[in-house]
Amino acid sequence: MFALEAARLTPKSAKRTVVVFAESKGKLTPAAQMVDEGTDGLIRATLRTGRYQGGAGELTRITLQNHAITQIIVAGVGKLSGMQRRDWWKSGMVIGKQFDALGVKEATIALGDLDTTDETFAAATALIEGIHMALYRFDQFKEVKEHQQPRFERLIIHTNTRTARQIEEETPRLAKLLAATDTTRTAANLPPNVANPEYMAEQARKLEKLGVKVEVIDEKQMKKLGLNLFLAVGGSAAPEDQPRMVLMHYNGAKSAKPTALIGKGIMFDTGGYNLKPSNSMGGMKFDMCGAAAVLGTMQALAERKAKVNVIGVMACAMNMVGQNPFLPDSVYKSYKGLFVEIGNTDAEGRLVLADAIAYTIDKFEPEQIVDLATLTGACMVALGGGYAGLFSTSNALANALAKAGDDTGERLWRMPVDDFYAAKTHVADINNDGSPYGGASTAAVFLKRFADKTPWAHLDIAGTSNVERGVNGTHSELGHATGFGVRLLTHWLENASAATEEGATPKRRRGRPAGTRAPRAATPAIPGVKRGRGRPRKNA
Ligand code: BES
Ligand code: MN
Ligand code: ZN
Repeated sequence: MFALEAARLTPKSAKRTVVVFAESKGKLTPAAQMVDEGTDGLIRATLRTGRYQGGAGELTRITLQNHAITQIIVAGVGKLSGMQRRDWWKSGMVIGKQFDALGVKEATIALGDLDTTDETFAAATALIEGIHMALYRFDQFKEVKEHQQPRFERLIIHTNTRTARQIEEETPRLAKLLAATDTTRTAANLPPNVANPEYMAEQARKLEKLGVKVEVIDEKQMKKLGLNLFLAVGGSAAPEDQPRMVLMHYNGAKSAKPTALIGKGIMFDTGGYNLKPSNSMGGMKFDMCGAAAVLGTMQALAERKAKVNVIGVMACAMNMVGQNPFLPDSVYKSYKGLFVEIGNTDAEGRLVLADAIAYTIDKFEPEQIVDLATLTGACMVALGGGYAGLFSTSNALANALAKAGDDTGERLWRMPVDDFYAAKTHVADINNDGSPYGGASTAAVFLKRFADKTPWAHLDIAGTSNVERGVNGTHSELGHATGFGVRLLTHWLENASAATEEGATPKRRRGRPAGTRAPRAATPAIPGVKRGRGRPRKNA
């Protein structure tokens, strides 16, 4: 991550680029008003003449001469009082993209003081998350490296003293979370001729130095254990690309039963003998984004020493056309014992997940299970990139996940998992295909049979895990893999652990009770900005 400081500024920390915020119709925030006064009203003047409205996500740039500040980026927030944490994160991504485009190396964000210190702190950390994520680069296969181009290096957040202290305290933890999102994105961005199932096992082993215990189940053990669905999908790959089930154990709490996170890790999905049509196959390297999100989340939890017990499972396989075919109409006995008829070899994700879920329950008796999978095109059709599908047998679990989604911007929309959607078969207990309608729920109902009585939630991240198909969504400011799930799950698990520790809701940060107004902060001095005399004028 870039270097980060949070402070009331001193003349030494003067930066050439300052970011300020404006509400719709160009109304400046108090911090922006100060910058405006110090720059002879240039912001107001510019906003009056231009088309800039200050709508959320809108940006405008002002260049200055003869000032310590040489450019001002005005970022629209719509209505300041309505800004949620996730909106600040979005805004951070837009601002980060702008830094990159302009080659900005250092900048100051004039955030100032929101209604409460809680809100100010939440806004600041969300901005940092967004900026970092926007600056991510994937250039290992480019001859001219993007990292040879100017890179953003240092950010100063200008806010009240208390929030500044909180941000400074939080910075190392934030950096760890953001490095974990990078891990997920890079694993997902790698092409299938580089990242095979064994590659994911190697990435997991890198977490051993953080105290994560790693077990890898290879194709031979799968055969012995009866993980027949897993093996059916992965068995037709080349010898070096054979399937792996990777289990990562992290124990940060004393006794509690673990939560299991299970990710679909199809390193490439050709569809198998039900081969995908030509124009649907490109991008199927992303069919392991669920597994990559589990990897990143385990890294974040271990690095941040979260007080939780978690088992991360990556169900890794390649869905290929090959020597050891897995054919439609075949019937396999699953690890759980249920017989599964193969209606479609392209519905492979639910097969590897079914065995991974049943095995995890059998061996570790988790308290609850969350699986993440790029499972269905149908979910993408339903929700686009705006939300991941949330399917669950537990309202408490679903609500807690949805809340974490709302806070982080990795949003979830609840979808049905009624048995009504189950695929029919005359031959076996269950079929992996179904009607062309309601396909996301059909897939979820299939998984539910394997999760059985264990509280379970399934996140279909087909539309949100990458932005290759041009869908407008939660992370559409980013390119390629988005890292969807890492911030969501880390946030959810850490807040849940804080709640159980204190027997109630997570501890509030130091500061005023929610909803009470901040006393008006003394006007901090911004370098290169003369203090306005008297009270700020009403908006022009
Ligand atoms: N990996 C795909 C789902 C997918 C499709 C993800 C497009 C991202 C973009 C999954 O394995 C798949 O092929 N699902 C089929 C299921 C069908 C055969 C029942 C689908 O969605 O068409
Ligand atoms: Mn498929
Ligand atoms: Zn797939």
